[in-house]
Amino acid sequence: MLFSRHGLLIPSVISLLLTGSAFADDDPRARARDALNTLQGWYNPQSGIWDSCGWWDGASCMNTIADLAALDPSVMDTARYVFNNTFTVGPVSNPDPGPENKTVYTRDNQPSTSVNASLWLDQAYDDDGWWALAWIGAYDVTKDGTYLELAEGIFESLVSAWGTNCGGGGLPWNPTSKYVNSITNELFLSVAAHLANRVTGRKQYYVSWAQKEWDWFTAQAFIGANGTINDGLLDNCQNNGATVWSYNQGVVLGGLVELNKAAPNDTYLPAANKIAKAAIETLADSNNVIHELCEPQCLPDGTQFKGIFIRNLRMLQKASPHDLYRKVINSCANNIWNNNRNEKGQFGVNWAGPIVAVVDASTHSSAFDALVAAVAASDT
Ligand SMILES: *[C@@H]1O[C@H](CO)[C@@H](O)[C@H](O)[C@H]1NC(C)=O
Ligand SMILES: *[C@@H]1O[C@H](CO)[C@@H](O)[C@H](O)[C@H]1NC(C)=O
Ligand SMILES: *[C@@H]1O[C@H](CO)[C@@H](O)[C@H](O)[C@H]1NC(C)=O
Ligand SMILES: *[C@@H]1O[C@H](CO)[C@@H](O)[C@H](O)[C@H]1NC(C)=O
Ligand SMILES: *[C@@H]1O[C@H](CO)[C@@H](O)[C@H](O)[C@H]1NC(C)=O
Repeated sequence: MLFSRHGLLIPSVISLLLTGSAFADDDPRARARDALNTLQGWYNPQSGIWDSCGWWDGASCMNTIADLAALDPSVMDTARYVFNNTFTVGPVSNPDPGPENKTVYTRDNQPSTSVNASLWLDQAYDDDGWWALAWIGAYDVTKDGTYLELAEGIFESLVSAWGTNCGGGGLPWNPTSKYVNSITNELFLSVAAHLANRVTGRKQYYVSWAQKEWDWFTAQAFIGANGTINDGLLDNCQNNGATVWSYNQGVVLGGLVELNKAAPNDTYLPAANKIAKAAIETLADSNNVIHELCEPQCLPDGTQFKGIFIRNLRMLQKASPHDLYRKVINSCANNIWNNNRNEKGQFGVNWAGPIVAVVDASTHSSAFDALVAAVAASDT
């Protein structure tokens, strides 16, 4: 396509070829690659995570890179480099290690030195769950069993935390807190269900945990009257009415999609669809752009959440397509690209734009998730 019908490059085509801008503006893959390159401007080869955001946000960044590599092999070199480097150096400079528990668990829940999982545990069980999912993402695109084993080890350490004062099941937020929150338990469900579809010879073990978590979760009061999921439970195990964060409407979707794949059940996808629709009803604006209730001044954790919602919505869209989901994914991606991008190609927290608050690796990588979801949506 280098030559026009007349055998000459017409000037506008030349300028487009030189800047690449028309290409990037039109093609979801080019947009996502551009966002990846920008994200890597924050990647710190010495710490193995991304400057300007936290430790668990790093897991989210890595997960998104893995998702893009699964859709676009041209970014595989960058992805492999990140997985390998973060695996190698990440723990050395964990900036927020928390009250570390150095016990290392094998897949049989025996203390061991052969699985290096303890390096990725900071004792906030949700943080550990994010890293487990990220390493599973790395395994999916590289088939490097080291990453899968790491996720298995992390899962075993989470199993040892099972059992709260609410119905005797579930996980608390961390070992020193009695708070029973949604995200920790959604992550436990999702990690178990992902492992069920991947670890040879252990399917039933992981399916059992995923089902146990889901049955317990639905018997508790996490899901509010209108079908959205609140932050967690009160000491008396009633719904605490706390913020309907987008990521709490997201992780459960991917968990149920994976569980339904491992152990099909007529109830899983309908439950996921109900949550997804309630979430969109609550969080999307009239242009189908998802917002967080804290915008535009979200604290560092809150800037990450929407990408996690959209990442999991796209998993549901693949398993159970709905026009509404496709619209939300594309509308988020288009608004981010057109209205929420600064001159450096970085994205802010408000996906509808404009950029008025801090821009960092967290706001950027969260929006990057939506661009990756749009690549997947354009394939279907
Ligand atoms: C990282 O790369 C090095 C050098 O290629 C290799 O020896 C090592 O096994 C890789 N690590 C993982 C976890 O894949
Ligand atoms: C775990 O990883 C760290 C950092 O890569 C390394 O120094 C250590 O020797 C590893 N431990 C085991 C038990 O493999
Ligand atoms: C680490 O966690 C395990 C399992 O929860 C527990 O048995 C062990 O006592 C903990 N070790 C430390 C040093 O806290
Ligand atoms: C389907 O899932 C529900 C909810 O987890 C469970 O109660 C039911 O027993 C499952 N049905 C089958 C056939 O496994
Ligand atoms: C659903 O309930 C939550 C409170 O749990 C509220 O924040 C949200 O606005 C409600 N959604 C709708 C669409 O009314």
